[in-house]
Amino acid sequence: AAGTTLTITDAETKQNLEYAADILRNTHHAVGFPTETVYGLGGSSLSSESVKSIYAAKNRPADNPLISHVSSVDQLKRKLMVPSQEIPEIYAPLIEKFWPGPLTILLPMPENVHDSPISQLVTSGQPTFAVRMPQNPVARALIHIADLPLAAPSANASTRPSPTTAAHVFHDLKGRIPLILDGGPCDVGLESTVVDGLCDPPMLLRPGGISLEQIKQAGGPRWQNIVVAKKTAGKLEPVRTPGMKYRHYSPTARVVLFNNCGDGKEKVKAYLEKNNLQNKKIALLKTRCFAKANDISPLIYYDGTLGTSGDEIQRNLFSALRALDAEEYDYILIEGVEETGEGLAIMNRLSKAASETING
Ligand code: TXA
Ligand code: MG
Repeated sequence: AAGTTLTITDAETKQNLEYAADILRNTHHAVGFPTETVYGLGGSSLSSESVKSIYAAKNRPADNPLISHVSSVDQLKRKLMVPSQEIPEIYAPLIEKFWPGPLTILLPMPENVHDSPISQLVTSGQPTFAVRMPQNPVARALIHIADLPLAAPSANASTRPSPTTAAHVFHDLKGRIPLILDGGPCDVGLESTVVDGLCDPPMLLRPGGISLEQIKQAGGPRWQNIVVAKKTAGKLEPVRTPGMKYRHYSPTARVVLFNNCGDGKEKVKAYLEKNNLQNKKIALLKTRCFAKANDISPLIYYDGTLGTSGDEIQRNLFSALRALDAEEYDYILIEGVEETGEGLAIMNRLSKAASETING
């Protein structure tokens, strides 16, 4: 339940956690750490110097605000809010049900933002701040031991697929950060769901580890009308979630997404022929309906599957893109899924990674 503390008994793990917590408390460096969604690159939300080093290590534009990670509701109140502020009532059922876990909520900044202990570089000037309580025990213990809320974006170089293993973080950020805590592969495999309950109706700003259906089911009456924010904002539109406007999750290979294309035989084959891809190194990533690569086209060199259940596809997605990139594929053809349940978040990430979408 929300706020449970945990005890780490293994001595070596404890030592590593204390070393990481020392770096966070005593230097301005950011540290790589596991969460249940993806690996994060954490620095104190209360220190602008720490937040600057996060942006610098990732090469990320500073107009994209960061999520603060806490280990308890008590810590959220003590460290990130001013005494006159309460957590808005609308979030109570979601916090009860999904914290700790892959759900991020927006909270209001105090009327005078200078009253807030949060670095303004975390919020990049928004009137709100984003917060979540991760489930991963290493993440929770680190935040608890440092007793600091950690601002943490995904620990990839900006635009690359998010990291779901410590090796992915090392690949992107080696030489740029002093430490990565290795907690094994991430359970969920894509980022947290971001919701805004401060507007009416409430909004889903980013689909993620908790599905829209789960929010509606657990949230009660006020969450029934939740509106899904548009995937991308046009140049002149005000941006609700700044992260939405950047190209993201992209491997170097050209990703082509196939939507509703049955067993793939017709549409994939036609695509390959039309684009003259005889001399290209081509991979296929299937989900639920595609035929064997052999039965689709002899031009396909690698025949892979992301899984059939939503959970499996989520977990495998980013790491499959990274693995194929390492093998220098020119094209990655991916079979999409329906946008229900986990499918909404999966398709959100796939359409951002894709240069092109083919509809059946
Ligand atoms: O699962 C996750 O959320 C991971 C792990 C490390 O916890 N973190 C993550 O952070 O995905 P990042 O920085 O890659 O994405 C943060 C998202 C962005 O889409 C950003 O625009 C949005 O949250 N966001 C943060 N603060 C916001 C705010 N005040 N208003 C609106 N959107 C905000
Ligand atoms: Mg990210």
